[in-house]
Amino acid sequence: MTETGISPSRVIDIKSLGLERGAHLLIKRALSDLPVGGKLGVRGDAPDLAVHLSGWCRSHGHELIWPEAVGPVRADGSTPGESPLVAWVVRGPAANGRRHGAETAGGTDPRRPGAVVERPPARWGLAARGSTVEAGGPEFHFRLDSKTEVWADSVPRLYLQAAAAQWNPAAAVEWDAPFDLPPEVESAVVQVMTYLIENETAALLVPAKFLAQVHPHFREVMQLLAIQVADEARHVEVFTRRATLRRPEELGLSTVGGRQSLKTLLDEPDFTLASFLLSVLGEGTFLNLLWFLERHAPDPVTRQVARLAAQDEARHVAFGMGHLQYTIALDPGTRSRLAAAVGRRHDALEQTAGLNEEVFDALVILAAGRWEPEAIAGGFEKVQALRREMEIDRSYRLVKLGFTPDEALSLSALHTRNFM
Ligand SMILES: [Fe+2]
Ligand SMILES: [Fe+2]
Repeated sequence: MTETGISPSRVIDIKSLGLERGAHLLIKRALSDLPVGGKLGVRGDAPDLAVHLSGWCRSHGHELIWPEAVGPVRADGSTPGESPLVAWVVRGPAANGRRHGAETAGGTDPRRPGAVVERPPARWGLAARGSTVEAGGPEFHFRLDSKTEVWADSVPRLYLQAAAAQWNPAAAVEWDAPFDLPPEVESAVVQVMTYLIENETAALLVPAKFLAQVHPHFREVMQLLAIQVADEARHVEVFTRRATLRRPEELGLSTVGGRQSLKTLLDEPDFTLASFLLSVLGEGTFLNLLWFLERHAPDPVTRQVARLAAQDEARHVAFGMGHLQYTIALDPGTRSRLAAAVGRRHDALEQTAGLNEEVFDALVILAAGRWEPEAIAGGFEKVQALRREMEIDRSYRLVKLGFTPDEALSLSALHTRNFM
């Protein structure tokens, strides 16, 4: 065979660059322009280049022809000053190497390459959405692997909002703002903070548990849950800092009823039901509580930490609502599962105390701000108004999910007395 019979072909000169120092990149790039069977002349004078080239071609499925078998090489236009021709590489059929038999991790519609699919296979594993997945390899069995189970159309937007809205607890709160509270009012604040910390811990652990079960193909859900966990970590931090601001060693009471209520949230294995109970009903109710604390806080630090937490909480509620609206639109039967879940949780907690008396009393004192009878009366009325507001907003969210106003009212009434 002579050079004249080779077509198409080209020659590259890799000079003194060896394959052990990156020359393969130049060879691969030049080969990618050639069809299977096309020939690439490789010039170079790195030590042992012929040996290395031979091994590289073998492992990449290319044939190698030594120059003496090809004959004169003047046809490539080389001049006597160039590096010597080492060999001809004949592009093999498996020139795509790892891409042979590979698939795109995502939708196959050419107008939307790598789009989110309904049920990503286990074999895609952690591959980036839109990437080319080499055939073979281990399977990753994520329990939440269908779009219906986790998605919301608002997820990409909510993630961007969440990432942009992160705040630094050290800088966002004026921890040394001056205030002076009567000891009982400070105790009330500490009791409410103690209760909040425990509830925020549940709100951290529930999404954390599901985070590791979501197929990473649903990237934005994974990212949003991760940020939600980080949000709750900050809430735990700022409420702990406020609780211990004036009395470093002394926190309030954690009750059996509160813990029983939170345990039912942690025990819920279904993501859709958990996001309904936690985000729509629990965090939705907490929004009212945090706004209440922002409005009636007896000191500026409590006001600020409540306001910051409420901002994040609104996003958590929005994701819960978005996910349920998405799921219900695909399967309206989901609504009866939601109603059943509220009923089950109510029955499980029926014999428990619900909101502890200490928290209720603390909210009254905190809203009263002072210890005179008329102030206490005012605080008591404010807490009653808070409960009515919670009922109205919970029912409103349930109506938005397609429940009738009557169904919404009765479901709302079955929600845990612990608020979360
Ligand atoms: Fe929170
Ligand atoms: Fe939350």
